[in-house]
Amino acid sequence: MPEYQQTVFKILTLNHIASAGLECFPRDNYQIGENIAQPDAILVRSHNMLNMDVPRTILAIGRAGAGTNNIPVKAMSERGIPVFNTPGANANAVKELVLAGLFLAARNLLPALRYVETLQGDDDTLHTLAEREKKRFSGIELPGRTLGIVGLGEIGRLVADAALKLGMKVVGYDPNITVESAWSLSSEVKKAQSIEALLRASDFITVHVPLLDATRHLINEKSISNMKRGAILLNFSRNAIVDEEAVLAGISSGKIKSYVCDFPSRKLQRHESVVTLPHLGASTLEAEQNCAVMVVNQLVDFLQNGNITNT
Ligand code: MLT
Repeated sequence: MPEYQQTVFKILTLNHIASAGLECFPRDNYQIGENIAQPDAILVRSHNMLNMDVPRTILAIGRAGAGTNNIPVKAMSERGIPVFNTPGANANAVKELVLAGLFLAARNLLPALRYVETLQGDDDTLHTLAEREKKRFSGIELPGRTLGIVGLGEIGRLVADAALKLGMKVVGYDPNITVESAWSLSSEVKKAQSIEALLRASDFITVHVPLLDATRHLINEKSISNMKRGAILLNFSRNAIVDEEAVLAGISSGKIKSYVCDFPSRKLQRHESVVTLPHLGASTLEAEQNCAVMVVNQLVDFLQNGNITNT
């Protein structure tokens, strides 16, 4: 609970937080923006705060997103500063991008696009060249294929539901759901007993776990050796969940057919079997508004009333 009462709270935003979402709030009891002096709270999206000297005046930090790995949560809690995040507020946006990733990989869309962009000549020449080469980009369909989902929080569950609707078989594993009775998913989602069992069963694998010491390089050389030959791996959580060197080795050996991830990477950039995106999972108008509204509500509720939710 803030130790003093004041009428106007000052919230410093460290990077783009949906202005459309923030406009929903009446501004009579707080100021918000990128040029706020002596702020009471910091509002951040993906900006890395790990090495930041957090001002003494700060009473709370809001993260417009689910992951808090860009915030020094432990150091903040030692200072009694709560960190609020917004689990679920952007889950649909991430789910939709995962589905795009599934289609992208299943239909070889990125190599096909890269190929078409190299073609030169008039339209007839382009058609002839494309017809000659298109066999190279022939893909697979999703119904009947198995999607393995590692991590069954809000995003993993939405992905499971969507994949079932596409006619896929779904197998799930979550290190936090150890007892059968806690498995509250549809009975159509099969519970894998271990991550190895999930990897052995899956044609496509998607990871949706937070980045923690225990999940860093969760997908590594050993786990890749358990995958089916030609598996397609998707990572829309955090890049360090997957060991990139192991992925490159897996692609060379044929274990992995392609890797789709929502992060830029020097090692993986321009690899013909890899798609790298600029961390777009939560970048939709709707998700940005949802996150902004949820996190500002939490900050204001804390600053005004001392209530702590979602830390
Ligand atoms: C999240 O953790 O929810 C995402 O990283 C959010 C974002 O892209 O800002």
